[in-house]
Amino acid sequence: MKLFIPRESDPVETRVAASPETVKKLIGLGFEVTVEAGAGVLSRIPDSAYEAAGASIGKAGDAGAADVVLRVRRPTADEAKACKKDALVLATMDPHGHEDAVKAMADAGLSAFAMELMPRITRAQVMDVLSSQANLAGYQAVVEAAATYDRALPMMMTAAGTVPAARVFVMGAGVAGLQAIATARRLGAVVTATDVRAAAGEQVESLGAKFIMTDALKDASGTGGYARELTADEQKAQAELVAGHIAKQDIVITTALIPGRPAPRLVSKEMIESMSPGSVIVDLAVERGGNVEGAVAGEIVRVGDVAIIGHLNMAGRIAATASLLYARNLLAFLETMVDKEAKTLAVNWDDELVKATLLTRGGAVVHPAFGGEAPPPAKPAVEEKQGEGMDEAQKAQAEAQQGEGEAQ
Ligand code: NAI
Repeated sequence: MKLFIPRESDPVETRVAASPETVKKLIGLGFEVTVEAGAGVLSRIPDSAYEAAGASIGKAGDAGAADVVLRVRRPTADEAKACKKDALVLATMDPHGHEDAVKAMADAGLSAFAMELMPRITRAQVMDVLSSQANLAGYQAVVEAAATYDRALPMMMTAAGTVPAARVFVMGAGVAGLQAIATARRLGAVVTATDVRAAAGEQVESLGAKFIMTDALKDASGTGGYARELTADEQKAQAELVAGHIAKQDIVITTALIPGRPAPRLVSKEMIESMSPGSVIVDLAVERGGNVEGAVAGEIVRVGDVAIIGHLNMAGRIAATASLLYARNLLAFLETMVDKEAKTLAVNWDDELVKATLLTRGGAVVHPAFGGEAPPPAKPAVEEKQGEGMDEAQKAQAEAQQGEGEAQ
């Protein structure tokens, strides 16, 4: 079994799909691993570290001989064509709205797996790239905001007097939002947060932040533990609540997403203009259209004297950590497709994880959400997910408490 790790071709991508640790394990599973020269450089993994783990260093063209290709981003049409027919390609495929790219992978005969479609059930937690990367993005969003904000975050009690703590408002309390809350709390900020899922309230409060939600909006939980889109009335009620609150905040971090839809617009120009000079907004949803009016993907813009950070690929800004976790997610999924005794590929095409993530196979698009004919995954596991959402909050809380303990 041959496996190839390319150097990512998207200029915004700093991560890599394997680490020396996962390369060793892949070799243990029976793979012959080739890593494209320089693939790990932006994640601080030199070629020599992959070699020491047992991989060979190769070139882009080596993809053509591989039975399995592990990537961070989906291959371009040319990269897809350069792969072997029937190769398994695992990546974050970003398929929504990119049906042409999905078709290009089908035309190239690939079995393409979209890691972000992994069901959020117990068995698949270790393969959940959305969680591993969103958690880091939430952390990094606070770090970036703190670096741009030209005041201190914690309350400073000094001989020269006391300065108050910064007020941080997190909009969207999923994985990224909960980590942003925990990180801002560790830095001593006074933190509030909002979400449209009522269940998020308990998680926010367990992290020591105040949860803000309008009475007009009881609960907008959708399927699978995600949020649904708000009705026009609900949007209006939410905007009124936010408008009053945001004017008193120093830093706003927005993370709100709805699966398969453009990001909801939460912060208007008027709201931005109501903030104090020097305030900072980070829009983590910028790649999906943005939560903040005027946010520009890949840029820091100013509206009046408020900075709006629209960095793309926030997790990629801490690539050395992000790659290690992403690589483990991929390894955990690929392991389920290998016969460990025979050391051969043995994909169970009926497995619910395979069915949920497989976009293309045998020259066709097979995923039902993208025009394929395969039956939908057996079990969306909503109940299980909601229960486990608490795990995410508890994990973030445990980390926050550990940070506080260390600080004492
Ligand atoms: P996401 O990335 O799709 O969205 C981020 C957050 O934005 C969500 O909390 C969502 O409710 C919120 N949101 C959407 N529209 C909004 C609006 N108009 N205003 C304010 N907030 C809005 O969600 P993510 O981070 O992937 O997590 C969703 C849920 O899944 C959470 O409950 C999380 O704890 C849970 N989860 C469960 C896992 C498991 O394995 N069981 C793993 C990871 C997350």
